[in-house]
Amino acid sequence: MIECNKLTRRYGRMLALDGIDLHIGAGELHAFVGPNGAGKTTAMRILATLMRPTSGDALVDGVSVVQNPQRARQLVGYMPDFFGVYDNLKAWEYLDLYAGCMGIGAKDRRRRIDGLLGLTALTDKREAYVDGLSRGMKQRLCLARALLHDPKLLILDEPASGMDPRARAQMQEILSEIGSMGKTVLISSHILPELATLCTHATILDHGSVRFSGSVSELEARMNMREALTLRLAGEPDEDMAGRVEACVQELLGITPERTQPDTWRIPGEAQKDAQLLAALVALGAPVCDFHREHATLERVFMEVMRDEAQSDL
Ligand SMILES: Nc1ncnc2c1ncn2[C@@H]1O[C@H](COP(=O)(O)OP(=O)(O)OP(=O)(O)O)[C@@H](O)[C@H]1O
Ligand SMILES: [Mg+2]
Repeated sequence: MIECNKLTRRYGRMLALDGIDLHIGAGELHAFVGPNGAGKTTAMRILATLMRPTSGDALVDGVSVVQNPQRARQLVGYMPDFFGVYDNLKAWEYLDLYAGCMGIGAKDRRRRIDGLLGLTALTDKREAYVDGLSRGMKQRLCLARALLHDPKLLILDEPASGMDPRARAQMQEILSEIGSMGKTVLISSHILPELATLCTHATILDHGSVRFSGSVSELEARMNMREALTLRLAGEPDEDMAGRVEACVQELLGITPERTQPDTWRIPGEAQKDAQLLAALVALGAPVCDFHREHATLERVFMEVMRDEAQSDL
């Protein structure tokens, strides 16, 4: 659905996007993450045809945003990070105004607007003036606006910023419903745990370059394999048992475990031999009561990828 080829954008001498290549498949709920200033908004604005790249190109469903921005625009619904609304309009009038601008016929409009007000949980605000809506409601109204022309691709730049936890949960429900409608969604946010539950894929951008792009589960699984193992015994073992536990780990994995507490060890390395190790420990009579690897959250993965990159830059 999205194909970026050496997409580059400069602001004067500042290189905001450094020739990124990116592939986002149809139907993906794709998280776009990265620190402040990474280039997320820049890339999204180019994809939404609101800004031209300095060089390179991006295709939306095969249509070039450089060669054919008019056609590309019809395929994209865009919700910017900061937006204004016309205060002296009612919610339905606001959507009606945009529907008119988009050339949606009067007959279709009412049905579509009511459908979108329903989807974004604003039906009971249909007749309310926009300036009387809460921030979260305005954000949902803006989302409804982005969906008016039934775009294949939805680009949402921090759609849940400034929302309280309940409003964010509601936004998340709406987005997952939009995902189940088969639309491709590219969504940037700094609230990583929420993105991880919502999204199927992720791209990590930093200083205008792609650090990682792929499926969230692959990424987490890869990281989980690298997390250290925690081993804890029920009660403090005597030195004989402790010695035998350490010898067992040493023999099987070839590494010396780090004893972090009298009853606990941290064992670095990958997960392939976990089952064998547990069986061996039980066989030698160790009273194992905890044997786990931390689950890698998108947040941890993000920090990890950034750290790896920082090290490889050195
Ligand atoms: N209109 C502009 N003029 C000059 N520089 C800009 C402009 N817009 C963005 N930049 C610069 O380009 C870089 C990328 O900015 P961008 O807004 O794309 O980052 P972002 O990843 O969206 O960050 P955030 O998480 O803070 O929203 C930043 O260094 C920013 O200062
Ligand atoms: Mg931004």
